[in-house]
Amino acid sequence: MQPVSENNIETPWIRTHTCGELTAAEDGKEVVLSGWVAKRRDHGGLIFIDLRDRYGLTQLVFDPNLAGDDRSKRDAEKLRSEYVISVRGLVRNRPAEMVNPKIATGEIEIAVQELHILSEAKTTPFTIDDHTDAGEVLRLKYRYLDLRRGTIQRNLIIRHHTYQSVRKYLSAQNFLEIETPILFKSTPEGARDYLVPSRVNPGEFYALVQSPQIMKQLLMVGGFDRYFQVARCFRDEDLRADRQPEFSQIDIEMSFTNRETIYQLMEEMVRAVFQEVKEMDVSAPFPRMTYQQAMDDYGVDKPDTRFALKIKNASAIFASTGFQAFRNVLDAGGQVRGLQISLAQQGENAFSRKDLDELTKFAQQHGAKGLAWIKVENGKDSPSLAFNSPIAKFLSEQERERMVQDWHLQAGDLLLLVADASYDNVCAALGALRNHLGKKLELIDQSLFHFLWVTDFPLLQYDPEGKRYVACHHPFTSPTPADEAKLIRGEDLANLKAAAYDLVLNGFEVAGGSIRIFRQEVQHAMFRALGFSEEEVQEKFGFFVEALQYGTPPHGGIAFGVDRLVMLLAGTDAIREVMAFPKTQKATCLMSGCPSPVAAEQLAELHVGVMKKKEKA
Ligand code: AMO
Ligand code: AMP
Repeated sequence: MQPVSENNIETPWIRTHTCGELTAAEDGKEVVLSGWVAKRRDHGGLIFIDLRDRYGLTQLVFDPNLAGDDRSKRDAEKLRSEYVISVRGLVRNRPAEMVNPKIATGEIEIAVQELHILSEAKTTPFTIDDHTDAGEVLRLKYRYLDLRRGTIQRNLIIRHHTYQSVRKYLSAQNFLEIETPILFKSTPEGARDYLVPSRVNPGEFYALVQSPQIMKQLLMVGGFDRYFQVARCFRDEDLRADRQPEFSQIDIEMSFTNRETIYQLMEEMVRAVFQEVKEMDVSAPFPRMTYQQAMDDYGVDKPDTRFALKIKNASAIFASTGFQAFRNVLDAGGQVRGLQISLAQQGENAFSRKDLDELTKFAQQHGAKGLAWIKVENGKDSPSLAFNSPIAKFLSEQERERMVQDWHLQAGDLLLLVADASYDNVCAALGALRNHLGKKLELIDQSLFHFLWVTDFPLLQYDPEGKRYVACHHPFTSPTPADEAKLIRGEDLANLKAAAYDLVLNGFEVAGGSIRIFRQEVQHAMFRALGFSEEEVQEKFGFFVEALQYGTPPHGGIAFGVDRLVMLLAGTDAIREVMAFPKTQKATCLMSGCPSPVAAEQLAELHVGVMKKKEKA
């Protein structure tokens, strides 16, 4: 260590150690530490300070009986929370009874000889504490203070390590990190665009990229073969807990590849990340499931497979039902499906009428017309079973027997049935209900990380509002080889399968990708299927289809939602907890107050007029 001479005092202090590293091994050493006052305790002249930086906490002692200059002693009295200070002092072992095994520096303290107050602090709007009870609005308004909390710091450190390990892995596999523009052409890709007016080209706009999809494909045309990028993406869509208007992808593309190669490389990459960030050995290959299987069994295309509960098809059992609600649905070609939950462990009184009413409301909020519940109980003359249900009077003897047999019903089981003419509605309601019950009944082992490839997505989806097909993934996704000819002929569009895949982790879609269309005629067929005229294709994608004519290698790729991946690595369920400066559900920044009005001159310069100025709420 450099001795800290008197001459150094007038120069900026340079710390010799961080607040997280001193141990008994440094006993007696002279050190300089800098940081924030986390806590101050005054024991009648003897002042203790917990000094904090991002590495940890170190206890400082200001002892009036020790040598030291008077100014420093007087200044010690002034210290308050969040002051930034620098101290010079001697490391000394704490008395045995004062050792704090919970922190890395718990064996020692610093007997301060000299103090400099570098910066004073107003009383902060909330206490800087790992377990703060400050609401999120306050925390987002003062995000720079929130960032001082250990929890957020740990999350951002996990994010950093994730990036480093991804870069190391991909670089070793010959992937090149290449940046692509953020200001680009507005191309219909799924979500709404954020538009940026051009000053020098009146009336014309850029769009902030929703993803570098087109550009990474053009990099393949450009011969780059293996590309990746930490890409900022912008989507003007309705936000949820796991969605932000501006987010990051680890975006990947490669040439001369196939699905198997991509699965294998990505599994290895994920394994490397988990090894490095969590020192955890994730087993590969990851299980796979088709989209159809996921919807049938779990009601969603991103099943949380950490708990076994699966959806059952009850349509056959109720084929000749007299219950009108089911009858109508089945006659209309719909389905009755449901969940069977054993309440044996929840006790007799589990799921009161009130609980069941709440579940019904929940299912209705997720699109169900109703929720028929059946509580299976011990009958009067055991071993027969009794059915306690609002629809009990409609259940025939035969239906009861089949349910008991097919589903191995036992006393204590609860059945929750949803009937709907639309398969998608049944899935949406039961999928949401399944996840809700998984949490409510604590069926999920939170220590698990369950990866799953969901494969064979549909290529196209009919949009009844727009009265046309839309791409399930994006318009550059290739059909499976078996379905390519049909796409070119424009046949059976609703049933074509895509060479697309999602990687799901614990019920979250953490990555999505596909093999791309690389032949011009297939791309044109795709645009035709999506209802674009030749003129529209030229106007929107002309440069891209032109590129496909000059020797395009077969290629494919994937993009990871970094925020979601890090969110799961960090063990939180809010994406905002792993972003330094996130936006609210209303896409606002509470700290800066954006979005905000701009001066009329600025608008004029951009050739933009505002139709109606909205008063800010
Ligand atoms: P996709 O649209 O599926 O694919 O996005 C890839 C991944 O990005 C994450 N993600 C989001 N994360 C936070 N907030 C959002 N609003 C948000 N939207 C998406 C998800 C998702 O899996 N270009 C294609 C990828 C490809 O085909 O290679 C694409 O963007 O984790
Ligand atoms: P009702 O005859 O409409 O009073 O409904 C009797 C029970 O069946 C209630 O518990 C409803 O929630 C339930 N129910 C009605 N419609 C449906 C449906 N489409 N799917 C599932 N349950 C339903």
